[in-house]
Amino acid sequence: MHRRLEGRVVVATHNEGKLREMRELLAPHGVECVSAGELKLPEPEETGDTFAANALIKAEAASRATNLPAFADDSGLCVSSLNGQPGVHSARWAREAGTYPAVMALIEARLQERGCLSPDTRRAHFVSALAIAWPDGHAEIFEDRVDGVLVAPPRGASGFGYDPLFLPDGHTRTFGEMSADEKHGLPADGSRALSHRARAFQALAKACLKA
Ligand code: IMP
Repeated sequence: MHRRLEGRVVVATHNEGKLREMRELLAPHGVECVSAGELKLPEPEETGDTFAANALIKAEAASRATNLPAFADDSGLCVSSLNGQPGVHSARWAREAGTYPAVMALIEARLQERGCLSPDTRRAHFVSALAIAWPDGHAEIFEDRVDGVLVAPPRGASGFGYDPLFLPDGHTRTFGEMSADEKHGLPADGSRALSHRARAFQALAKACLKA
C-alpha cells in the first residue's frame, strides 16, 4: 500500500543541481520543500552498494533528524565497458578528480585504454533511485534509468555533473546541450520523461503524490 506525500518534506541532498531539479518536480504537487543543506543536517555516510540502499540511508537519516517525511535521491553514471563504474561512486570519483571536466577526462582515458572508440563500446546509463522515509519507519523506493552513449569530447554547458558526456539514445544532443525542461521535464501527455530522475519521479508521483 503506497502512502501519500503531503505538506512539508525535507529534501535530503546537499547537491544544488539535484535540489533545483527536485524542487521543480515537486512544486506542482503542492509539496513544500526544505533542504537538508538549508537545515544544516549532517550528511550520512553512503555505505550501501546499490543506489536504492544509499537513497534510503539518506532519506531515513533526514527523517529521523527532523521528524518530517524526507525525500532522497541517489544517482550516478554506469559505464558498461568499465564494469558499471563509477556507479554508486560517481560523486566520489568527481570529488577525487577535483572537477567534472577532470573526471570526464579520466573516464575518457579509461575508455581509450580499453580501445573503446565505437559507440557500441561506449554504452552508459544514468540511474536514479528515489526514496521517501517517514518518521514512523514507513519507506517507499522508486528507481529508473536512461540509456545512451558517451561522447568525446564532452559537449554543452547546461545541467550539471556528467551531463556533457552523455548522449541519450534517440537524441542528437547531450544532456549538457539540453534545456532543463528537455532533460527532466514531465511530458504533459503523461508519456515517459527522458532523464533517469524524471522517470523515477513519474513512478513516485503516480504512487505517492496528489495529481
Ligand atoms: P549522489 O547521488 O549525490 O551520490 O551523486 C551522484 C553523482 O552522479 C554526482 O557526481 C552527480 O553529479 C552525478 N549525477 C547524477 N545525476 C546526474 C545527472 O542527471 N547528470 C549528470 N550527473 C549526474
